[in-house]
Amino acid sequence: MEWIKIFPGLAEARVRLVQNKPQLLLIRNLRICVVQTHDGLLAVADTCPHNGESLSKGHVNFLGEIVCPWHGQRFHLKTGRECAERSPDLLTYPVKAGDEGVFIGI
Ligand code: FES
Repeated sequence: MEWIKIFPGLAEARVRLVQNKPQLLLIRNLRICVVQTHDGLLAVADTCPHNGESLSKGHVNFLGEIVCPWHGQRFHLKTGRECAERSPDLLTYPVKAGDEGVFIGI
């Protein structure tokens, strides 16, 4: 696994990301959706496993699920699990933060 720096620190991440608003990041030809949640910064694949819509165009509900804007399938942001078992689960990416910055593992 390679750790890619996405922010110089948590303070910068909090300034740049709106709470619970998905944000698309393009990292090494990967489309990754990051969300600043009350549980910290979470990252999942941006492409919906159902039919390919960009999940960063969706929203996060009160259960911590990202909701696809196309057909409404829901994926738990921490686990990537599709909440109604209608499509494959979503790939998740680890995020770590420290003195050196905020990193995503790909
Ligand atoms: S493309 Fe996401 S629910 Fe259909």
